[in-house]
Amino acid sequence: MEKKILKFPEGFLWGAGTSSHQVEGNVDNDWAEWEFANARRKMEEAKKKNWPGFILDNYPNPLQEENYISGRACDHYNRYEEDFDIAASLRHNAHKFSIEWSRIEPEEGKFNDKELEHYARVIRSLKDRGIEPLVVLWHWGNPKWIAKIGAWENKRTVDYYVRYVNRFIKFPGIGDSVKFWMPLNEFQAYIGYSYLGGILPPQKKSLYKANRVLKNLVTAQKKAYGLIHKVAARDVLVGASHHATHHTPYNPKNFLNVLFVKLLDYIKKDRIIKMIGSCQDFIGLQVYRHERLRFSLGGRYGIARIDNEKTDHSDMGWEIYPEGIYHTLKYLKKFDLPIYITENGIADARDKKRTKFINGHLCWIHKAIQEGADVKGYFYWSLMDNLELAEGFWPRFGLVEVDYETMERKIRPSAREYAKICKNNCLET
Ligand code: BGC
Repeated sequence: MEKKILKFPEGFLWGAGTSSHQVEGNVDNDWAEWEFANARRKMEEAKKKNWPGFILDNYPNPLQEENYISGRACDHYNRYEEDFDIAASLRHNAHKFSIEWSRIEPEEGKFNDKELEHYARVIRSLKDRGIEPLVVLWHWGNPKWIAKIGAWENKRTVDYYVRYVNRFIKFPGIGDSVKFWMPLNEFQAYIGYSYLGGILPPQKKSLYKANRVLKNLVTAQKKAYGLIHKVAARDVLVGASHHATHHTPYNPKNFLNVLFVKLLDYIKKDRIIKMIGSCQDFIGLQVYRHERLRFSLGGRYGIARIDNEKTDHSDMGWEIYPEGIYHTLKYLKKFDLPIYITENGIADARDKKRTKFINGHLCWIHKAIQEGADVKGYFYWSLMDNLELAEGFWPRFGLVEVDYETMERKIRPSAREYAKICKNNCLET
């Protein structure tokens, strides 16, 4: 077959992402506090499942308590220089990471300058390697004192968050050096996991609370947007991170299935993007999976169930469907905003599917660009294996494998394939 070269726009950002709680280690926030109870619950669940050998042979595995406790995580807090050396060697020109609020303000009103200096060093160390930082100011973990006042259910959290952001961006070497910002990670997934699905802390299941949290998060995004534009460097871009799963009706001829998909798309995409309005210079699109929805009582969305039984999956059972990103990009066209793909990745411990996954998505992204989508960057999730939310360490999303006993990093073959794309700004198919 004839080879095709898919060229990406000039100045395209290529990189990967991480988040503080998932990689840094020794994080003392509400999420870390909750992990012990989660471990007990998940280990019971895990005992009932049949796990493949390639998962059980790894450390830690889903039957072990350590799997669910962030603990040292990847020790990225201490090893960021080594990790950024790896990213640079893989030709990444950008990197997305998050700031741990609980380090900056462990107690109400008591800011820790040492931690601010730490993040200033992290930023400098990226820039020294020619890597553009994209800074996320909150990736779900809250200081414990914020959790005590009801976290994002409480309006006061917005003011506290804005005060933290203000302090953070005014610190020398931070606001004056970063161009790309996202105040909050994924409204949709945080609310879905923490206030509807009961999967992450505070494990609530309340539509009323979910809506209140959404409103507070949107206000926080708007206020942070104004503040960063006022205080930080002149040419900053402040985006909003959106988790956008591609939904399709299991049976396109079933009216209820079609209606449900439309409703879900409206609630999870249009409504939130419209609420944020002009307080987003770009959409940070975060895409993982595809859900074929079938109308029925019970299941993930209460009145619909996901049916992906006949498709190719990641280790976590998420359907691999690269075409979905194309449809999502086309769907988002109406908002007329530049888009950075700020997360897209696969749990694949054997590294058998990752290259196909990345290349497949890039082919469809390229097609969307050809047809007018303004996509300006791609960040694979994640630079390294890390703590995958409530599932813990067993899902392996990394371009780089982490040995959690020795903390040794090992570059996976797929990372080297992705490096060629980053280097050449094109994909050869
Ligand atoms: C989150 C990440 C998470 C990834 C895979 C995203 O929604 O931002 O923290 O690891 O999904 O589940």
